[in-house]
Amino acid sequence: MSEKNVSHIKWMKRAIFLASLGKNTTSPNPRVGAVILDKNGNLISEGFHFKAGMPHAEAMAFSNLKKDAKGGSMYVNLEPCCHQGKTPPCVDKIISSGIRKVYISIQDPDKRVSGKGIQRLKDAGIKVHLGICKKESLDLNKSFIHRNITEKSFGVFKWAMSIDGRIGLRNGKSKWITNEESRALVHAFRAEFDAIIIGGNTLRKDNPFLTTRGLKTPEPLRVVFTKTLDLPLKANLWDCNKAKTIVIYDSSTANENYLARIPKCVDLEKVSSDNPELISKILAKRGCNKVLWECGPKLATSAMRSNCIQEIITFIAPKILGGEYSMNPFGDFEFKEMNEIIKLTDSKFSLIGNDICVKSSFQN
Ligand SMILES: NC(=O)c1ccc[n+]([C@@H]2O[C@H](COP(=O)([O-])OP(=O)(O)OC[C@H]3O[C@@H](n4cnc5c(N)ncnc54)[C@H](OP(=O)(O)O)[C@@H]3O)[C@@H](O)[C@H]2O)c1
Repeated sequence: MSEKNVSHIKWMKRAIFLASLGKNTTSPNPRVGAVILDKNGNLISEGFHFKAGMPHAEAMAFSNLKKDAKGGSMYVNLEPCCHQGKTPPCVDKIISSGIRKVYISIQDPDKRVSGKGIQRLKDAGIKVHLGICKKESLDLNKSFIHRNITEKSFGVFKWAMSIDGRIGLRNGKSKWITNEESRALVHAFRAEFDAIIIGGNTLRKDNPFLTTRGLKTPEPLRVVFTKTLDLPLKANLWDCNKAKTIVIYDSSTANENYLARIPKCVDLEKVSSDNPELISKILAKRGCNKVLWECGPKLATSAMRSNCIQEIITFIAPKILGGEYSMNPFGDFEFKEMNEIIKLTDSKFSLIGNDICVKSSFQN
């Protein structure tokens, strides 16, 4: 690899690192970082996008400039925008700055930009190079890209099971399968998500809080999906001071008289069937790039079947729950042949005290 290529990779990696500083805060926007070099290749500014409504990475880098950018270059992990959103188009700022070269890692999947930002730069006589560190950039913004392409939120299913593959006793008791360290870790990685979804039965049985315990402000949106609306009068999710909650219900089966049990501060959305894809679409429309499914086996199986889940996080605890009728995570899948079974990919394993955490991808 030439010295020049090494240097391009170095600056793009710096832009990607800066972008990652907005990891838990940019949604519905992408994670973007920008680096500006002067005409001699010296670093003169950096920036990253922190939150929707706040300056884009490029704009922040321009406001941090230590000297004139004329004749210089910019490294940015996502195509600069060319539309007026909450903030002005970044391409205009780049063009008027006199920057001569722009290195972009990946094209923006947002239809308002997608290729048009690059074209505007080229039309202004700026040299544009696309594709440095493409894999890392795709990975960093995979939820944003997924939502833009599919109009559904990127779904991660998380569950905890015993060493004998049980997620709870027959009577529904499941507290606690994993150790304290694993549970604290779950609170921390909830912060990466825009919403957390459960089904009505998990609400009735576990009465969870579904918060990061203050690690993220505002807390992720809490979502309950129900076919019956037979939800309790008192529930931790009804405390809207902790976090926002939304109940999504299937109006073809629900008893709407039960709506009276739900406090006014909770949002309601009616859907026409029990297809979990409808939740994914509603949440995508609300700007949720990445959502965590923390439901039990019935809703999890249904969500997997309707392509709402792209990654799976499994906690395995060295405990035996036993029992023929104890709950198992995907009991509703009844595969008959080995070529029908679901194969997960890219698994990464870590030890959390004496529990094991496995993160895998699921390609539909
Ligand atoms: N170990 C773990 O990781 C873990 C995680 C979560 C839950 N759990 C356990 O799992 C049990 C609950 O399991 P569950 O499977 O009944 O989970 P769930 O998360 O409550 O999902 C099922 C409920 O979701 C609603 N729903 C809406 N659309 C659906 C659809 N298309 N398919 C299925 N359900 C739909 C229904 O609510 P309505 O009945 O209100 O209509 C249904 O009863 C609890 O005992 C809980 O402790 C364990």
